Amino acid sequence: MNKQLQLRFLAEPGDVNFGGKVHGGAVMKWIDQAGYACAVNWSGGYAVTVYVGGIQFYQPIMIGHLVELRARMIHTGKTSMHIAVDVYSKALASEEYIHNTHCIVIFVAVDEQGQPRPVPSFEPATEDEQRWQQYAIKLMELRKDISEEMRSFRQE
Ligand SMILES: CC(C)(COP(=O)(O)OP(=O)(O)OC[C@H]1O[C@@H](n2cnc3c(N)ncnc32)[C@H](O)[C@@H]1OP(=O)(O)O)[C@@H](O)C(=O)NCCC(=O)NCCS
Repeated sequence: MNKQLQLRFLAEPGDVNFGGKVHGGAVMKWIDQAGYACAVNWSGGYAVTVYVGGIQFYQPIMIGHLVELRARMIHTGKTSMHIAVDVYSKALASEEYIHNTHCIVIFVAVDEQGQPRPVPSFEPATEDEQRWQQYAIKLMELRKDISEEMRSFRQE
């Protein structure tokens, strides 16, 4: 059971957008995959995405660059896992990574019937982990207002 997980691969020509750089949709897929891998490893079984928030694309990713996704568990509830995912990239010949994207994804561990199942509790072991957990809790609080605001536009 790991608190952190990295995925590393090359941005391929098939990931291109209409402007010649990496498609935002491809980045979102990678974020979901990194979060999924972290959630399954943590919970020991299948998990589903329930929330993806705060995605901002700070800088474009170039085709042919090395992409690294860093996923870290930052908070758990009874069945939910809050995971921060950061996306970095760099030219293969370069030593310096660019920070491209940061976001929070939340997964819920589910059983074979698709019902939420309990997950191991995340216990911060360092000041840095405590800081991340406080960040997750603060975002949860902020989301209450956002959810309330968005509820009136939700179509059942
Ligand atoms: C995951 C699912 C089974 C949970 O069912 P549910 O009836 O919402 O269950 P609960 O209300 O008990 O919520 C379970 C947990 O998810 C959390 N959760 C549910 N929706 C959430 C959301 N939008 N944002 C953050 N947390 C959420 C709850 O806070 C709760 O956390 P906790 O157990 O740690 O306290 C259900 O929401 C579902 O199937 N969603 C679709 C998931 C999916 O298909 N994802 C793929 C993307 S298409």
